[in-house]
Amino acid sequence: MSTFKEICFTPAEFSSLAKIEKSFIPALEEGGILKTIKRRVGNVDRKMIPLVEAQNYFRHLREVVESGRHGDQIVAALEAKEARLAAIADGTGATAAGPAFSAETPIEVIAAATGFVPLAPMHKVQMFYNVKGGTGKSTLTAQYVMRAAMMGYRVLALDLDGQGHLTVNLDILDAHERPTIYDVLINDLPIADSIMNVAPCLDLIPANLGLCNIEIPLNNKTRREYRLSEAIRKIADQYDIIVSDTNPAASILNGSMLVAASKVNVVCATNPLSFHGMSLVMATIEEMEKEFDRSLNVTIVPNLYDNREVISQEVLGELRSQFPDHCTRSVMNRSADINEATKRRTTVFDVNSRGMGATDVNALTEELLFS
Ligand SMILES: Nc1ncnc2c1ncn2[C@@H]1O[C@H](COP(=O)(O)OP(=O)(O)OP(=O)(O)O)[C@@H](O)[C@H]1O
Ligand SMILES: [Mg+2]
Repeated sequence: MSTFKEICFTPAEFSSLAKIEKSFIPALEEGGILKTIKRRVGNVDRKMIPLVEAQNYFRHLREVVESGRHGDQIVAALEAKEARLAAIADGTGATAAGPAFSAETPIEVIAAATGFVPLAPMHKVQMFYNVKGGTGKSTLTAQYVMRAAMMGYRVLALDLDGQGHLTVNLDILDAHERPTIYDVLINDLPIADSIMNVAPCLDLIPANLGLCNIEIPLNNKTRREYRLSEAIRKIADQYDIIVSDTNPAASILNGSMLVAASKVNVVCATNPLSFHGMSLVMATIEEMEKEFDRSLNVTIVPNLYDNREVISQEVLGELRSQFPDHCTRSVMNRSADINEATKRRTTVFDVNSRGMGATDVNALTEELLFS
């Protein structure tokens, strides 16, 4: 059993993350683009890819694409890929567009053109939100930030709930001794001093019970709703994405995050009471947008879905018909693996990389990063 920072991927797991053929791995190793280690499992040495090497690989591909190096080759390869997909779609056959790569095409170009490249997220500052409790906000925030960090994004997770569940989900158990966003917003602690490292590419501003007392002192501060966005702005350059978990209330702290964020991921459990609360949640967000002259990208993430339950199916149908422009395509099924990951304070990928929970988290992460 490992924690997130110790996670190592098998070649099969890595190739599924990177969306490349497993047979590419030796060529990537030869080209110095991917480093693997040997780890003893039972009596055999198995090839593994540690977290930090997976991150280096993804960062390298991003750099290759963003720098424009091999630009023409990548564009040509992407065009060939599109043409092949179109040929499959219109029934003219998968080989109609011809071979995409020559023997001279560098392996990094093939990987960048065919596999997953973690380009800049569409929205840098995001929050998971719902005034209703227990819908899965902390669970999905934790899984999302770990999944994004696996792809080499520099991630800051921000725990805005005094229950500290995001903090615990990221395996930090001594948060009572650490500064929180309370110290930043109320005691003028520089925000950089409240940040701790959790794992490669993953930092956290933790929370503890003391954060439950923030509402009255925050209410008394000038420019109270702007203090959080001003603090976040100071460290935003150091991260690709900043994601907060919030407390289940219409609090000033949550309001401050609605001012700081550009994307709000509302987690709605697929049960009748959670659905009932959605109109209020959406109205609250709209009010905040008007009051602070903001335009937020609002996404509804259906969670805890069980396709064996008629009520789950009905609520999902209602959500999609009432909020057609907001619901994610991804639906988060109720998953024993996700619960196990919460218990073990790690990523669901570490529990069962091929299970439904990991598949759902992968799909949701890509959707929330790029739309
Ligand atoms: N997709 C899922 N599959 C299985 N269990 C889940 C899933 N999502 C959340 N859970 C479980 O549901 C419970 C509540 O989740 P969580 O604590 O994340 O909710 P929350 O919205 O953050 O609650 P609060 O409002 O109290 O902060 C947890 O036990 C968590 O493990
Ligand atoms: Mg929570």
